[in-house]
Amino acid sequence: MCGIVGYIGNKQAKDVILDGLKRLEYRGYDSAGISLFNMRQQIFDVYKDQGRVDKLAKSVLKSPRSNIGIGHTRWATHGKVNKENAHPHYSHSRRFILVHNGVIENYKQLKEQYLSGVTFLSETDTEVIAQLIETFSNTLNIENAILTTLRLLRGSYALLILDQQNPDLVYAAKYKSPLLVGRGKEGITVASDLMALIGYSEEYLPLDDKTFVVASRDNLKLFDINHKSLVPNFTKIDMTNGDVERGEYAHFMIKEIHEQPSVIRRIVTNYFDKDQSLINNQILKDIKGSDRIYILAAGTSMHAGLIGKNLFEKLASIPVEVHIASEFAYQQPLLSEKPFFILVSQSGETADLRACLVNIKDQNYKVLTITNVATSTLAREANYFLELYAGPEIAVASTKAYVAQIAILALVAYELSKKTFSIREELTKVALSIEKFLSDENMRYLTRNLLTHRNCFFIGRGLDYYVGLEAALKLKEISYIQTEGFAAGELKHGTIALIEEGTPVIAMISNPRISHNTRSNLNEVLARGARAIRIVMSNVAEEDDEVIIDEVHELLTPMAMVVPTQLISYYAALERSYDIDKPRNLAKSVTVE
Ligand code: F6R
Repeated sequence: MCGIVGYIGNKQAKDVILDGLKRLEYRGYDSAGISLFNMRQQIFDVYKDQGRVDKLAKSVLKSPRSNIGIGHTRWATHGKVNKENAHPHYSHSRRFILVHNGVIENYKQLKEQYLSGVTFLSETDTEVIAQLIETFSNTLNIENAILTTLRLLRGSYALLILDQQNPDLVYAAKYKSPLLVGRGKEGITVASDLMALIGYSEEYLPLDDKTFVVASRDNLKLFDINHKSLVPNFTKIDMTNGDVERGEYAHFMIKEIHEQPSVIRRIVTNYFDKDQSLINNQILKDIKGSDRIYILAAGTSMHAGLIGKNLFEKLASIPVEVHIASEFAYQQPLLSEKPFFILVSQSGETADLRACLVNIKDQNYKVLTITNVATSTLAREANYFLELYAGPEIAVASTKAYVAQIAILALVAYELSKKTFSIREELTKVALSIEKFLSDENMRYLTRNLLTHRNCFFIGRGLDYYVGLEAALKLKEISYIQTEGFAAGELKHGTIALIEEGTPVIAMISNPRISHNTRSNLNEVLARGARAIRIVMSNVAEEDDEVIIDEVHELLTPMAMVVPTQLISYYAALERSYDIDKPRNLAKSVTVE
């Protein structure tokens, strides 16, 4: 969704900002804009339009040197995708210029109450903020004009503001939408995502809700919403450009698929000191004291949650419910007496989950967030947090985060179990199995021959069914092939009507107890003309099975079984020449409900 980058320092602001915006492209957007200071004319210029950051870069090619600026990528929520609605936005006299992530829920009321007679240039909720600041600046100094405006806003915001009368300052504010300040030898960068700071800042400060920042070239002032000074507490950035670049790979998605073995190994290293687990004991105590775990998540993370349910129930004998966050937030089911909540989220910013978190905390229940982004809202607002250590996931389609989420859920469930095996060894075996499979280049050929239809099915039973759900989501989101993940035994109860000559059906088979049932269901669709691929674990493999994965622990099979399905999705999109890392209509971090 929207991205924000602002800069003040010794470097060319447009280089830092455009580079940052490019790094945030993966989040999805439809327009881009930037404001830079024009020394000759002593004003901030604004360049913006619908389209990509590359187009914006061309439009500022000849802009004068500026050491200060703000930039934005917009994912439309209020108003059409066009130049007028792209950020930055001006106040009516053009004194204030701002970019905004988030949604101002009461913008219509604010317009009516404070801004009657003001001509608006866009259809956005954002413009109301610029207009309010200008209105209040008639009677208040700039800092108070901004703070007065902030106190009136309902909704969410990450804001960067420029003032034509103070061209050596960047103002920033945050509430619910993420915003981080980066500090380096060459200046201060403020961005909505750590990725935009890498290479420019040595340390970063994730802003708390309701903080207000005034940044100059060599100074940073931090306030709360009541204008009380706060002391900034910066953390060192331990990522390099290599973590956020594609390197030798054609796409981030394939890079991230290949990173999965090393992600699993990193998790094993980071969560153990010799044989001792480093998971906070209080998390385990709280889960033990509960009578039911509720896993809440969306999309791929919800699919990882389903695997988590099996892990907790089998290893720790704790009942688990898995819920879609957007449903749970407004339709809370009857809870058990002592619930414990686990939020699973790659980004840690998913708005549907945040809505759940607010409700859960209101009811005083304990929450653990499992996420890839330590600085994220969900990590900071939960009682506990466990990091995925997957490294930045840039392709919109989630791959390595899913595998990492299952690994962390497995570690927690294992710590609550009788420990009849070594989880470290079993996770290491999964890493090896994936690594071996990834060296086989047959998947592209198989995919090319199979996925010629407009629809497709993944079928499986038990854990394979859950993997099928994830496989179907992945294939549809990047190849636009209508795909369903289906419980193999359920197909004959209606959906088999969709099978016709040539319909691709991909069967997932990993469990020896039920493999023959899935094979029977596969025969039923083959008899009706389907074309099949079997993805099987080596211990249940039969002659003619197309894709065979080395056996791993029966509770961890999804981590390995999912990998061929990720490749099927990747190659299906590649064959169709689609934008694999940035599929249409999607955003990496879904910060609106
Ligand atoms: C699909 C995908 C999405 C996300 C979902 C939740 O590949 O990535 O389905 O899983 O939007 O996002 P997070 O995990 O960031 O909460």
